[in-house]
Amino acid sequence: MSKIRRKNRIIAVGGGKGGVGKSVLSIALGLSLSNRGHKVILIDLDLGAANLHTYLGIMGHTPSLADFVLRRVSELQDIVISTDVENLFLISGAEFVPGMANPAHWMKLKIIRHIRGLDADFVIIDLGAGVHFNILDFFGIADRGIVITAPEPGAVMNAYGFIKASFYRRVQQVFRKHPVVGRIIEEESKKGEKQSRLTLEWLKETIKTVSPEMISLLHEIEEDFKPALVINRVPQGQTHILVKNLISLCREKLGIEIEHTGNLPDVKEMPSYLLNIPKLLTINAGKPYFEAVNKVLDRLLKPDMEITRPIHKRRTFFSDEEIEDIIAFIDSLDESIFKDTSRDILKLRMFFKPERVISFLEDRGITHELFYC
Ligand SMILES: Nc1ncnc2c1ncn2[C@@H]1O[C@H](COP(=O)(O)OP(=O)(O)O)[C@@H](O)[C@H]1O
Ligand SMILES: [Mg+2]
Repeated sequence: MSKIRRKNRIIAVGGGKGGVGKSVLSIALGLSLSNRGHKVILIDLDLGAANLHTYLGIMGHTPSLADFVLRRVSELQDIVISTDVENLFLISGAEFVPGMANPAHWMKLKIIRHIRGLDADFVIIDLGAGVHFNILDFFGIADRGIVITAPEPGAVMNAYGFIKASFYRRVQQVFRKHPVVGRIIEEESKKGEKQSRLTLEWLKETIKTVSPEMISLLHEIEEDFKPALVINRVPQGQTHILVKNLISLCREKLGIEIEHTGNLPDVKEMPSYLLNIPKLLTINAGKPYFEAVNKVLDRLLKPDMEITRPIHKRRTFFSDEEIEDIIAFIDSLDESIFKDTSRDILKLRMFFKPERVISFLEDRGITHELFYC
């Protein structure tokens, strides 16, 4: 397991609602990145309603995720197929097998591990609708998550529901190993929507009472969680009132900043190209849409994802077993190392920002073979 090494950058496209344009955007992102010379793998994780293969004009029987889920192949890499576009590859979700729409927990973890190990510069995950844990977890592994919505009340509320659910899922995962906070979150989330008191305010108050030193970790999660918002079928430069409301709702209720990364125009010819979206994106009719996607991508890549930057020899991805090993290592260290911080925070941060933990330890002259490639 530990032989799987992180090579790629992951972009996930989600959004809560079906039909808002996730799959078309995924393909456009893939086309744009592959045009720039990157090797890109699109992965259709709309399990149960997969259609990327159709949009790419791939009709005959091909290897697909079902082969991996049914263990006909042992590596996800083995089911990568080529498309008509150079550098653009697909992991198809075409063949549907019972149970695939909601893979078991261990299978989900296995898929995630293999996605991280895929041989590509970029992996683009096209997600299904809804806020099922599996969808949130696939969204959660991305280096950049995009939430796409139409500027309509129902779709915007769904987008908010998706952002909120992903944020809570992140909080839950980071704290799940904390003996007090983890248990409190688990108990609250089991109560169901009506009885549960689990809001961010409630959680902050609770953490302040039971484990005040953990508040800074919660703030870190808030700061780090920055999904990019894309509005579909709206002219560029326009900010719809519903979008403004969505951004302020996220700021006020969740304490998180959503970045409005761009709008994509309506393409009236699109229905005629549903068997060849890349073609549409290369002709005049699709040009304004594709240019808008290119701009979205430029903004997404700017901060920290430039693949041309040499990747540091320090590792940024660890398997769960390796995290446990490093936590045991942290437990074995002398208390004096943690005088400016808390050993417990450092341990939980391993599930969230392992690279920060490693810099902290390196700054104090502490290294471990697992830290490096
Ligand atoms: N910018 C757009 N202009 C016109 N039609 C669009 C646009 N984006 C998506 N569509 C149409 O909306 C439908 C759903 O898009 P799709 O990407 O499959 O949504 P999702 O993956 O979110 O379910 C498609 O039939 C597509 O033709
Ligand atoms: Mg779709």
